Amino acid sequence: MALPISHPKIDDKKGKSCPVTGQSHEYQAPTLGDIRSVCPAINTMANHGYIRRDGKNITPMAICRGLKACYGLSSFLAFFLTIGGWILIKKFSLTSIDLFELGLHNGVEHDASVVHKDCPPGDKDAPTDIQPDLVNEFASEIVNAASASAGRKLAEEEVVVTGHDIVRTRIRREKLSKPLSGMHAEIARGEMAIILGVWNQRVEGKEGVPLPWMRRWLGEERLPDGWRPDHTHTLPQVVKTASAMRAEMKSLRQAEEVAAATATQ
Ligand code: HEM
Repeated sequence: MALPISHPKIDDKKGKSCPVTGQSHEYQAPTLGDIRSVCPAINTMANHGYIRRDGKNITPMAICRGLKACYGLSSFLAFFLTIGGWILIKKFSLTSIDLFELGLHNGVEHDASVVHKDCPPGDKDAPTDIQPDLVNEFASEIVNAASASAGRKLAEEEVVVTGHDIVRTRIRREKLSKPLSGMHAEIARGEMAIILGVWNQRVEGKEGVPLPWMRRWLGEERLPDGWRPDHTHTLPQVVKTASAMRAEMKSLRQAEEVAAATATQ
């Protein structure tokens, strides 16, 4: 049915929640013409209407508000990530962007991503396509490690993702690419440290993020059903998790070097 000519213009990609209840950020996969980024967190916000669902013309204020509402980040952490991101993609004003612009190679974006291919040589922007084989590899490595320590084959539903798992993932992925700069290695740990903290749960005595949540988020850019933030997540908490991961990566790499040197003697 056509709207009367006098009706205000409806922008159905503006997303957001129900204007009456203020609730319900339902998931909708992107449709033809929608734009997405290299970041699962930001794309998930678009898929759930915390920012415009078409991924176009997104202001830094919208990202900041979305990070607080969608993930429960503190105002400072949301501001820090957004402004840091804008500066690294060389936007030095509060200009709005289309989401693909976040993928400017070697801005925030880096090689050795968990579920994306490296940026092809000579390209300005990294590919945004999620690689299902990399999502499967991520999950199966974590299930295998958890199964080995449990002494039986575990189902994904029984497994939580911890900082140790992310350390192993990062080491595995970084072996396959050119070395990351110190800043990009920190960013890569920080990205995962945030979600580990936002979603940390205690499941049958084990602490971490349920693997099915992580698989769905990385693979479909979708929140766990019915999940809402249960605490405010802050920058010092992220720094603590990321620093522990840095220290563990360093000691695992040193142990690998010693083992390799011993093997060649
Ligand atoms: C809740 C906050 C956030 C979380 C949990 C988060 C998490 C992540 C994760 C896990 C990745 C890695 C994907 C992969 O390795 O395949 C990633 C990538 C990325 N994120 Fe975010 N992110 C957040 C906020 C932001 C913000 C505010 C920006 C910029 C304004 C941003 C820009 C990027 C970019 C450019 C990448 C690509 C890095 C790469 O090359 O892998 N993210 N993010």
